[in-house]
Parts: sequence; C-alpha cells; structure tokens
Amino acid sequence: MERKTGLILALDVTDRMEAVAISEKVAGYVDAIKIGYPLVLSTGMDMISQLSKFAPIIADFKVADIPNTNRLICEQVFKAGADAVIVQGFTGHDSLEAAVKLAKEQEKDIYVVTEMSHPGALDFMQQVGEGIAKMAADAKASGVVAPATRPERVAEIRKIIGNELSIISPGVGAQGGSASDVIKAGANWVIVGRSIYQAEDPAMAAKKLVDEMKEFL
Ligand code: XMP
Repeated sequence: MERKTGLILALDVTDRMEAVAISEKVAGYVDAIKIGYPLVLSTGMDMISQLSKFAPIIADFKVADIPNTNRLICEQVFKAGADAVIVQGFTGHDSLEAAVKLAKEQEKDIYVVTEMSHPGALDFMQQVGEGIAKMAADAKASGVVAPATRPERVAEIRKIIGNELSIISPGVGAQGGSASDVIKAGANWVIVGRSIYQAEDPAMAAKKLVDEMKEFL
C-alpha cells in the first residue's frame, strides 16, 4: 500500500448507496478503504470490487482460525478483489504463516491485530500484544494493527517490529485517539470511521485529518 495521505477510511455503514457515495467523496484523501462485517454482511462480497474502484480495499475480517481455514478464507477475500486482510494474531504462528504465505503468492498484504483499541483489550489482549507483534515480524507480515487510543503502546510495538512492517492504527476520533499523536508514536496510517462517515461533510472531515498529519508523515 502506498502512503500518500496516511489516512484509511473505516467504512462501517450498512447501505450500499451510502457506502459508494461516501467513498466517492473521500477517495482523494484516503490511501485505502477498510471494510468489514457490517458492510459486507449487509450488502455482499461484491461490495469489495465495487469499492476497489475508489481505493485499495483492506478486508477487516479479523480472521482467527486454524491454518487451513485461514488460508481458505483469505483466498476467497483476495479473489473478491481485496488488497489486504486483517487477521488475528492470538491464534498463533502457524495460522498466521498460512495467511502470509498465501498473501505473498498473490502479492497481497496481511495485517495482524496486536492489541485492540477499546478498553476491553486490557482484559486479555494487551498481555500478549508484544508477543504477537514479534510473531508478525518473524512471519514477515506486511504490518500490524495497533491502538491509536494508546500511542505509548504503538511506540512499544514499533520498537519490537522495526521499520520493515507497517502499523495501521484505529481509534482516532470517536474512540478518543489523536491522528497526529499516533503518527508521531510510529504509526504509518490511521484508520478512521465514524468521525468521517458520520460527519456532515465527510470529505472535509477527511481533509482535516490529512492536514493534521501531513507534517509528521
Ligand atoms: P471508528 O468509528 O472507531 O472505527 O473510527 C474504527 C474501525 O476500526 C476497527 N477497529 C479495530 N480493528 N484492531 C482492529 O483490527 C483494533 O484494535 C480496532 N479498533 C477498532 C473497528 O471495527 C472500526 O471498523
């Protein structure tokens, strides 16, 4: 994924026309569009190819299965036109390696969830987040997902993974994180949903974030 703006739109709307209209408006400000279960379950897998006209698509299916099933899932998602898939890391090295192997064969990307951005991630996930980051680096994944709500954790994860892997970071805006703070902490991209797609003017909201991050990219 090429970094021009540092912004990824999380498009968690459930209406096809709204999804297309918002994508059209913000396309000039985003490097990718992340879609997940809310949009795909309501509209279907063909939404992926429809939106890929506007930007590369990251499929946030948080894939968390045995190696063979991970491979089968990623195969279908890439076939549908996605450029990247988000997988969970807690399932362990073999599940991750199966996804990464397939992605490399198809010149696609795998991003691995380390610890999530919401408060409940402190219950279990944070304790294994650093181990997952190391595993992602060992497996040569394209990058990890790390929380914009905790820039200090993003900085820790950056130290672990080095500069070969990217960090994509959700939690800006509606969840309280700051785009410029998390970029300064070491993230390559911020992932922003509600602050853009619920804004009166989504393009203006996206532009504001891009302007805020510009000097720190
Ligand atoms: P908002 O509306 O809060 O949307 O800007 C954030 C988007 O990112 C997803 N999300 C995460 N995905 N690890 C992930 O892989 C995380 O820690 C995480 N936190 C939020 C969320 O589903 C939404 O699409």
